[in-house]
Amino acid sequence: MIPPKPMSRDGRVGLLGYARRFRTDILSAQPARLYGAWMAEFRTPFFRSYMMNDPDLIELVLKSRPEDFPKSNRIREGLAPLLGRSVFVTNGAEWRRQRRIIDPAFAGGRLREAFPGMRDAAAAMIARVRDGEQEVEELASYAAADVIFRTLFSVPIEDSLAAEVFQKFRNYQRTQPLLNIAALIPLPHWLPRFHKRRTLGAARSIRAAITALVERRAGEIAAGTAPGDLATKIMTFPDPETGQRFSPEEMVDQVAIFFLAGHETSASAMAWALYLLATHPDAQDRVAVEAVRDWETIMFSDLSKMPFTRDVFRETLRLYPPVPMMVRETTRAEVFRKRDAPKGAQIVLSPWHLHRHTRMWNDPDGFDPDRWGTEATKESARKAYIPFSAGPRVCTGAGFAMAEGVLLLGCLVGAFRIDPVGAPPVPVAHLTVRSKDGIRLRLTRRVV
Ligand code: HEM
Repeated sequence: MIPPKPMSRDGRVGLLGYARRFRTDILSAQPARLYGAWMAEFRTPFFRSYMMNDPDLIELVLKSRPEDFPKSNRIREGLAPLLGRSVFVTNGAEWRRQRRIIDPAFAGGRLREAFPGMRDAAAAMIARVRDGEQEVEELASYAAADVIFRTLFSVPIEDSLAAEVFQKFRNYQRTQPLLNIAALIPLPHWLPRFHKRRTLGAARSIRAAITALVERRAGEIAAGTAPGDLATKIMTFPDPETGQRFSPEEMVDQVAIFFLAGHETSASAMAWALYLLATHPDAQDRVAVEAVRDWETIMFSDLSKMPFTRDVFRETLRLYPPVPMMVRETTRAEVFRKRDAPKGAQIVLSPWHLHRHTRMWNDPDGFDPDRWGTEATKESARKAYIPFSAGPRVCTGAGFAMAEGVLLLGCLVGAFRIDPVGAPPVPVAHLTVRSKDGIRLRLTRRVV
């Protein structure tokens, strides 16, 4: 059975038609030929856009000359009310300094220290979930937010400040989709862009709650009573080059992005993984077999004993990459596949299309976790698999997310049998790839 894939648009559309479709759903706004093209140029009176699937171009943009292809100011402006100047939106020296402080907290050994927080969140999820029909995006979102709070601030999502942040994010998303999608469409600079008043109010209110969390932690650090979690590590680690630490204001920006980037993405992957397992019972049985273990005492190193579950998660990230597209900008004239691109052109890298590219993958739309053991896939993955991006701007949480994904998936499938309910979900992309009307599945507690 082929897992759900959105319809592509047929025929040509003008700029306004494209913009309208793009706002509704980035994926169905694109023509089908992008699944087989190495590059597509999009010319308008205002800007040029290049969507790249050619592995050499992706290598150029992300790894060889990333400094020449920064994120655009437009993206920063779009996200500024919520994210300020967080590592997700900055460039150049400011971004490098932020990564020097953040990266050590997420490095391999340190991840091991965050693992008990993930394990407690997994246990709480199993205790919370009831038998019967569920909307699993909701379930996954709550569990992933719990993981973030426990690993970042050592508090469960039921903590009053944590609960406030989670609730306020939901309200924010109701006022506008996660990323201000309009920020991705490079309309001319002279066109004013307004944030809705409600959006600004919601962003302010989230930041107030995060500020309270950061201030509480700053007090604990000063008193010598702070737990050694990710927040403490990031707030106390001095930049190795300058010796400076993050100011509380900067830390609020970073917490906002950890929460945003870290829970929506993981939740999206987990919900799709559950759907794929519900519709592929053989694969589900194999995950359930690996899941027979003592979850109370599981350690980070035990995750390596769940290779099939890891391959299911990898395959899910291939078919439903939570971040479907990434955007960069040229800072000088370039030549891409013999075409001249001007300064200020938009570059779109699309994990969505790359991961299903007909010239890069065998059976590109099929769900086949076993492909990850083959040589052919190693080659495809090296050239055409970037769910966490690549190069110096690679997702800081990639290792964290892989551990979390395998743990939560194994834990849930170990405890419940999962069956599909109703019509297949329809993937749509706002910032993360979600289902149009949620993903409904039936969960039945396994008898042990
Ligand atoms: C399955 C889960 C996840 C996926 C698929 C994912 C994917 C990505 C991608 C594709 C980017 C690059 C975006 C771009 O360049 O435009 C990114 C950046 C980022 N992610 Fe993740 N992410 C996940 C989980 C997490 C988690 C758990 C955290 C933190 C706790 C995190 C923190 C970040 C941050 C801080 C950045 C910005 C890095 C930079 O620009 O230097 N992500 N993520």
